[in-house]
Amino acid sequence: MIKKYIYGNPFPTDAVVKDIAKSEDKLPFFETDNNGTFTFGLSEDDIVYGLGEQIRGINKRGWQYVSWNYDNPNHHEDARSLYGSHNFIIISGRQTFGAFFDYAGRMEFDIGYTRRSKMQIKAEKNDLIVYIITGENEKDIVKQFRQLIGKSYIPPLWAFGYGQSRWGYKNEQDIRTVARQYKASGIPLDSIYLDIDYMEHYKDFTVDRERFTDLGKLTADMKAQGIRLVPIIDAGVKIEKGYDIYEEGVQNNYFCKNADGGDFVGAVWPGRVHFPDFLQPRARKWFGKKYSVLTKLGIEGFWNDMNEPAIFYTEDRLADTCAEIENLTSGNMGIDEYFAFTGMVAGLNGNIGDYDKFYHNINGRMINHREVHNLYGMNMTRSAFEALQEICPEKRTLFFSRSSYIGAHRYGGIWQGDNKSWWSHILQSMQQLPALNMAGFLFTGSDTGGFGCDTTEDLVLRWLQYSLFTPLFRNHSAEGTRMQELYCFDNVNAAAEMIKIRYRLIPYLYSEFLKAALNDEMMFRPLAFDFHDDPMAKQVDDQLLLGNELMIAPVYRQNAQGRYVYLPEEMMLIRMKSSNEHITEILPKGHHYVDIALDELVFFIRSKKSVPFGKAAYNTSEIDMNSLDLLGYPDSSYVLYSDNGISPVSDDSLSISELRK
Ligand code: NOJ
Repeated sequence: MIKKYIYGNPFPTDAVVKDIAKSEDKLPFFETDNNGTFTFGLSEDDIVYGLGEQIRGINKRGWQYVSWNYDNPNHHEDARSLYGSHNFIIISGRQTFGAFFDYAGRMEFDIGYTRRSKMQIKAEKNDLIVYIITGENEKDIVKQFRQLIGKSYIPPLWAFGYGQSRWGYKNEQDIRTVARQYKASGIPLDSIYLDIDYMEHYKDFTVDRERFTDLGKLTADMKAQGIRLVPIIDAGVKIEKGYDIYEEGVQNNYFCKNADGGDFVGAVWPGRVHFPDFLQPRARKWFGKKYSVLTKLGIEGFWNDMNEPAIFYTEDRLADTCAEIENLTSGNMGIDEYFAFTGMVAGLNGNIGDYDKFYHNINGRMINHREVHNLYGMNMTRSAFEALQEICPEKRTLFFSRSSYIGAHRYGGIWQGDNKSWWSHILQSMQQLPALNMAGFLFTGSDTGGFGCDTTEDLVLRWLQYSLFTPLFRNHSAEGTRMQELYCFDNVNAAAEMIKIRYRLIPYLYSEFLKAALNDEMMFRPLAFDFHDDPMAKQVDDQLLLGNELMIAPVYRQNAQGRYVYLPEEMMLIRMKSSNEHITEILPKGHHYVDIALDELVFFIRSKKSVPFGKAAYNTSEIDMNSLDLLGYPDSSYVLYSDNGISPVSDDSLSISELRK
């Protein structure tokens, strides 16, 4: 059952698609001061699931989180905010219920941080809607919530293939080299990503003709090899006379405004930019149509970046900072001046004060950005999604975004942002998955190999062994870091086999994705969601159930040669040293130490179940959904969801069949 409680005058976020009558009774479970604060007493055994992208474990107890979409490249343990705000939690324990705080501004979730036994949730203003969801168990609560917020985005099948990306591919030649090297190494590949360097001076919807002489031809040549190019689109529009997007935006008042009515200026990659007012339907429509500049060249997928929106600096803050720095550096810089100096420079990026300086035009009313900050990225992706449905209605376009709010899951996926080539970030990504799925974000994954910092061969192999299970499977790294294309390492063969196994598993991953999206379920779940009465299952936070048949337990420690795994029931261990052979072993319920060499993949099939396993394929276009083996227990069966992988999913296009072993 879902109950809705309205406080003050909430801004309509569009997170929810179902009309629910307002409850007149007293808000259950929480105490509220009617001033935006909601308090709940935590029992010792309560587990708090949720908050989407936020890091720090599957159980969110013991930290304070802030919903404030933030370009945060430091996914350290003490990070309070990342790029998305997903204010949905489930408290599981003495009383089990879900709560969604639908609020577009800044919110704090103190979950046993200030006081271990207290959860205090605070909206900056008392203008929000609280939904309380009760149900049979966590899965049921999630299902009801997902029905409330609408169906998740489904990308085309090719988006489940492996993708190679790097911030640093500078020209057409770099792209052709990546494609050639993958082919020469016998590694399947479905997409190559274009980061900001394909643009002319980082201007959206332009192509640098010197470095990419004919993007249309490049796109076609790549497609002939089964590879799609996926360009990045940034939120900020360069201020430059004669640049059509800038001119049109100014002329039509499509950009966010200053208090005095002028167009707000921030700075990102190109220097000075304006930010499209994505909360304005007209501006959304206008910007969305621009994607056709690239679809006309054959592009079928996009990633939307910097849409928190990220602001490196604003000019007045920069001027104040420079003046203050001059002051600080004019005399003897002691410790106080030195820290003030470094703090001021670091404080330019994403300074919360800058978000107070601009406004959105909502039906003629100027709304301060701070009130609606967390909706910006979602509306950028919405702009693209809605326009592309008109531009190419016959097919699904790949979309994923960095910033999001609940509701954005209907328009695209998200990637987990600027992680690092750190061992702990394999686990961190894995722990983000269930809460993202709870919030409807199914098409997601991390930058495989790590984005920032230098990677190593063993880290990449271990990362592949985890991320080959995630719907978005992309190797991406930052400019200046060590190259991490899979052909750069000695044991290319081991990496190639991992990718080939991914392709054999795509029929299963895609089918489970479709089921999760169409039936409002989670693809990745904590063990405790299915093994509710098993106290040990509640403790496990480094293994996940994937769909209804698999459990994954990847290695995420340097130099480890295996790991402990907890089986909440008897399972079949599958060990693959190569993509065309596997060894099986039935393991009883309980704790096991499992050897897992660097060049092998281990996963588990749940008792009496099996998964479809395709024939070898070098590209998603070669996957034959009609010729599948079943891997797993004898006499088991599997219900396969499939479609043509291209057109919008409907009852007519979907095929559901039962495979028997
Ligand atoms: C920030 C994004 O998070 C990253 O993935 C991208 O490579 C850089 N921007 C450059 O576009």
